[in-house]
Amino acid sequence: MAKRKKGEDKDMGKVAIYPGSFDPITYGHIDVVERALEIFDKVIIAIAENEEKRPLFSVEDRLQMVKAFFKDTPKVLVDSFKGLLVDYVAKTNAIVILRGLRATSDFEYEFHMASMNRSLNTHLDTLFMMTSKDYFFVSSRTIKEVARLGGGVEGLVPDLVVSRLKEKFKLPVTKKKQIGWDD
Ligand code: PNS
Repeated sequence: MAKRKKGEDKDMGKVAIYPGSFDPITYGHIDVVERALEIFDKVIIAIAENEEKRPLFSVEDRLQMVKAFFKDTPKVLVDSFKGLLVDYVAKTNAIVILRGLRATSDFEYEFHMASMNRSLNTHLDTLFMMTSKDYFFVSSRTIKEVARLGGGVEGLVPDLVVSRLKEKFKLPVTKKKQIGWDD
């Protein structure tokens, strides 16, 4: 009988790990997860407890927002990790690290990270998925900046994230009207 490969656990099937800060999760991230579910049996969203990045949301808050969104998607597991990603991956059945790639500007950072992870574990590959055109301009960093300055981020992040951002930045909870050419 053929030896089962790592990541082809009989209970879990093919597993990918999608690591990140998710501070906060955006529809760009969600788009990557949903498309990855066409390829993998399970996707583990692994939230890094990277305090040195001075996240806006605590890891508990980030976990709660991601879990709330995927509560009806059993193929998505949500977890957090400290320390090296490769060490966390080794404790799971994942065969691959999954990352979204927006534009050429992401490439250098991603290339360095994937190369470093591969030098730490030569069996570990990173798979990149292009973020869909609807979200290629969306990043957690710009979402936080726009929200902090009172701009509307509805439709770019889940509703729960919109309300959490409003709480953080003490903004009114009413829906912010987007400014269009007719205004
Ligand atoms: O969403 P982000 O902030 O771009 O995600 C970056 C993340 C969390 C994937 C990366 O910083 C990471 O893997 N951190 C864990 C520490 C680690 O393993 N560093 C070595 C990889 S370069």
